[in-house]
Amino acid sequence: MSDLLRKSLRAFTPYKPGTTVDEVRRTYGIAQPIKLSQNENPLGTSPRALQALHGVDALSVYFEDDHRALKTRLAERYGLGPQSVILGHGSNELVQLAFTAFVDPADEVVMAQPSFGLFKKDAAIFAARAVEVPLRDGVHDLDAMLRAVTARTKLVFVCDPNNPTGTRVEPEAFERFAAALSPDVLLVIDQAYREFMDAGATDGVDILKRRPTTLVLRTASKIWGLAAVRFGYGYTSPEIARPMNSVRLPFNVARPAAVAVLAALDDVDFIERSLENNERGKRYLYGEFARLGLRAYPTAANFIAVEVEVEADAAYQALLERGIIVRSGDGLGMPGRLRISIGTPDENAAFIRELEALVAGWRGRVAEVGTVG
Ligand SMILES: Cc1ncc(COP(=O)(O)O)c(C=O)c1O
Repeated sequence: MSDLLRKSLRAFTPYKPGTTVDEVRRTYGIAQPIKLSQNENPLGTSPRALQALHGVDALSVYFEDDHRALKTRLAERYGLGPQSVILGHGSNELVQLAFTAFVDPADEVVMAQPSFGLFKKDAAIFAARAVEVPLRDGVHDLDAMLRAVTARTKLVFVCDPNNPTGTRVEPEAFERFAAALSPDVLLVIDQAYREFMDAGATDGVDILKRRPTTLVLRTASKIWGLAAVRFGYGYTSPEIARPMNSVRLPFNVARPAAVAVLAALDDVDFIERSLENNERGKRYLYGEFARLGLRAYPTAANFIAVEVEVEADAAYQALLERGIIVRSGDGLGMPGRLRISIGTPDENAAFIRELEALVAGWRGRVAEVGTVG
């Protein structure tokens, strides 16, 4: 039986999603846990998308495969044509399609460490070699990544903003890197959190316009609050989109997802409210971290990676028992830090209340040990 499994998967660890609200209810008997672990939209779903979802009809027929109208709408935002847009069952599927279309076993893929875990997972599935380049001061070390590229490199991932650190790359450095990278390599810029970035940040599509072997990934999961409908989209050149499209499953984007996204695109009010909430939460949390003497990376996204003074898993567990679900950096290649999604003002305040109590406990213990010793 063990011989049945592909060799590349024998030492493979599957993706571990974060703890769910239901698990915390069941395990700790907490009625209303607060989930700040999956970088979701704390305001919920775009009301326009919700309304459109209520009217979804014609579910008995296979919906159109090409989604021409939707692709045209997404392309128009950047003055591109629909053949430059590729759609997926979440942007995660688009990462997998890039591997399916371009990566042979033993090819190399370059990525930062830590970065979004899916890149490395897909490398394992496709028996490719993941070349991980450590971040420098929490940011992609683009010079080192360039040096890591060889004749076997097929994909280079830049996650901007980076998950799990939240940090972003400086636009000038990004431009220089993109210009220096061989045109035979597909540059995959994962911008799942693009909408949360400041005005001075890189828009991957600007890089694509100068460098056609580029794939810019976006998602409906975050800013529109549509994680459950599973919809991601990518901007690329028609030469890249064509092979990716040829290997995807037919009808990979469900009709409800397409309908919801078409409505969410026009929901300016929801997008503005989501961004305001994020900015306000960010200011509050950085203020509180400073007050508590905890250091955090500057974020360009809707989550913050903060340093704790105990093992990250221990801090995560202690918060969990108090009804606050965050992500431990231990499992994300970021030991000593927690990744906290920015929530509503009430959620953020509840998190800080519990964190402050824990910090006092840790410091009390350290002081006690110090006295005794
Ligand atoms: C870097 C990054 N890319 C993509 C996604 C979202 O993927 P999807 O569009 O499949 O929901 C996430 C979500 O957590 C992410 O952090």
